Amino acid sequence: MTFPLWTFGLLMISLTGAHELNHFPENFAVAKRYENYTLTCNSKPDDIVTWKLNGDPLEDEENVELNGQNLTVSDIDTPNLGDYSCWRGEEMLSSTYLLLKADEEDTIDSLINCRAKSYDCNFNCTWTGNGYTAVRLGLGHNCSKSSESCQWISSSRRLAEGELQFEMSHDLSPYAEESTMLELTAEAIRDLSVFRTSKRFYLRDIVQPDSPQIVKCELVNEDVNVTIAPPSTWSAPYSFFSLEHQIEYVLRDDGQTGHSSSTLIPKKISKLRVRSRDSLVLSNWSQWTPWKNVTY
Ligand SMILES: *[C@@H]1O[C@H](CO)[C@@H](O)[C@H](O)[C@H]1NC(C)=O
Ligand SMILES: *[C@@H]1O[C@H](CO)[C@@H](O)[C@H](O)[C@H]1NC(C)=O
Ligand SMILES: *[C@@H]1O[C@H](CO)[C@@H](O)[C@H](O)[C@H]1NC(C)=O
Ligand SMILES: *[C@@H]1O[C@H](CO)[C@@H](O)[C@H](O)[C@H]1NC(C)=O
Ligand SMILES: *[C@@H]1O[C@H](CO)[C@@H](O)[C@H](O)[C@H]1NC(C)=O
Ligand SMILES: *[C@@H]1O[C@H](CO)[C@@H](O)[C@H](O)[C@H]1NC(C)=O
Repeated sequence: MTFPLWTFGLLMISLTGAHELNHFPENFAVAKRYENYTLTCNSKPDDIVTWKLNGDPLEDEENVELNGQNLTVSDIDTPNLGDYSCWRGEEMLSSTYLLLKADEEDTIDSLINCRAKSYDCNFNCTWTGNGYTAVRLGLGHNCSKSSESCQWISSSRRLAEGELQFEMSHDLSPYAEESTMLELTAEAIRDLSVFRTSKRFYLRDIVQPDSPQIVKCELVNEDVNVTIAPPSTWSAPYSFFSLEHQIEYVLRDDGQTGHSSSTLIPKKISKLRVRSRDSLVLSNWSQWTPWKNVTY
């Protein structure tokens, strides 16, 4: 027996989930498993409306009850999820995605990692989690309260499979003592379930400077004086946003490694590299610069 090619195509669509969501729908409702949820049609009181689920007409079925302009879905479970649209004749009046509230709320917490290169108004977050088809982040109280006025940010770049980057901006003053925490909310969809988490942190907790620049190495008597400049992405003025540096060097004679927090290091070295951190809050260290060979 042979099947025409299109059968295979249809099979593929149904196997990969024809109704996977790759974005957050404009209108959606999140219901708990086994609860009832009432959807309301955007119709006039005496309109006669009909409903469709994912484009298929809905009749009075086992756990679906029509009541005027409302449709109550009871004992909600996976087969009930999807796009509910209501119609007056051939005209679609409104549509709402019914999604499931994920059972484990906290599991996505560890999937978000944020880092700021400075105290300026931007920082980046990465999301690492396979299987999620839509992810969005929001900053502030309005987002953690799921308010309409939350300004959701979608990912600006896909870094790798299951890894997304988000560019966030905040309006904290870089000069003021940081007294309010940032509140970051993430929502993600997987298999028509909505995962949601909020976390709070200070900007200073996520600061990690870029690598500094090694400007020059000068002989001063028996030492080398290393001149280090802050990374170009660091906040100015540098006198206010102070960085401390650490130098790692390899001795020419025995290949031993040494560290120095002073810019004066022994003369007899073969190479060195440098890293920096915020000296006030003792942030995470930057990445090391590449090794720089030292020859005289
Ligand atoms: C439809 O739902 C709305 C909001 O949930 C409610 O105010 C209204 O009374 C319902 N109408 C009917 C006919 O049940
Ligand atoms: C949900 O709907 C069913 C059927 O309409 C009803 O028997 C049940 O009491 C409702 N449950 C709740 C929690 O309202
Ligand atoms: C965020 O990431 C983008 C792309 O990798 C980069 O260009 C930008 O400098 C980063 N911004 C911050 C504040 O880290
Ligand atoms: C939060 O929402 C309120 C009202 O919805 C609005 O007035 C306020 O500007 C919003 N805040 C932010 C930071 O967007
Ligand atoms: C090392 O270099 C810096 C600037 O390049 C200079 O200000 C400092 O005085 C020098 N230190 C010594 C001990 O020469
Ligand atoms: C340093 O980075 C680690 C992981 O990258 C993070 O868990 C930690 O909170 C950071 N600490 C500071 C002070 O930035």
